[in-house]
Amino acid sequence: MVCTLLSIFSLFSRAMAANKERTFIMVKPDGVQRGLVGKIIKKFEQKGFKLVALKFVWASEELLKQHYSDLAGRPFFPGLVKYMSSGPVVPMVWEGLNVVKTGRVLLGATNPADSAPGTIRGDLCIQVGRNIIHGSDAVESANKEIALWFNEKELVTWQPATQAWVYED
Ligand code: RTP
Ligand code: MG
Repeated sequence: MVCTLLSIFSLFSRAMAANKERTFIMVKPDGVQRGLVGKIIKKFEQKGFKLVALKFVWASEELLKQHYSDLAGRPFFPGLVKYMSSGPVVPMVWEGLNVVKTGRVLLGATNPADSAPGTIRGDLCIQVGRNIIHGSDAVESANKEIALWFNEKELVTWQPATQAWVYED
């Protein structure tokens, strides 16, 4: 009996933890300049994900070089940093079941020429160097990026009223 209760509790807490996965999403300067911030936020809201943090900043080249440090050796890196520091951006943290993977699906392929219609990049942009949005590619990089852009106090703890209508447990 105790064992059964313990395994039910363990299954329940694993499901709860899975629902708490987080990703780092950022509207890039072209998305901001083109007035697409609201549309992009709406995609994540409508899907059922929970907004945990959001700000509006003009990021320094130094921060952006850190953010894209994995790409430092690529020929497009200097252009990428210039583009990303050319205007304000909207960094955000979203939470939910499989949000990292699903977030990338919502974004579409890196090159908008290959992004499926219905995805953010597929519907709203044309060139890879102006692809309007960033999304973490793995849970580990998401955690690193969240810590780079936000401090603990900026990550808001709250319970959306819709929770029980989005998840069955
Ligand atoms: P992101 O990090 O911005 O979400 O994009 P991603 O994972 O889909 O693609 P990634 O390989 O991480 O590339 C980061 C950003 O660099 C620019 N890029 N330009 N000119 C090029 O060939 C090229 N390749 C990548 C894009 O802005 C891409 O989103
Ligand atoms: Mg990337």
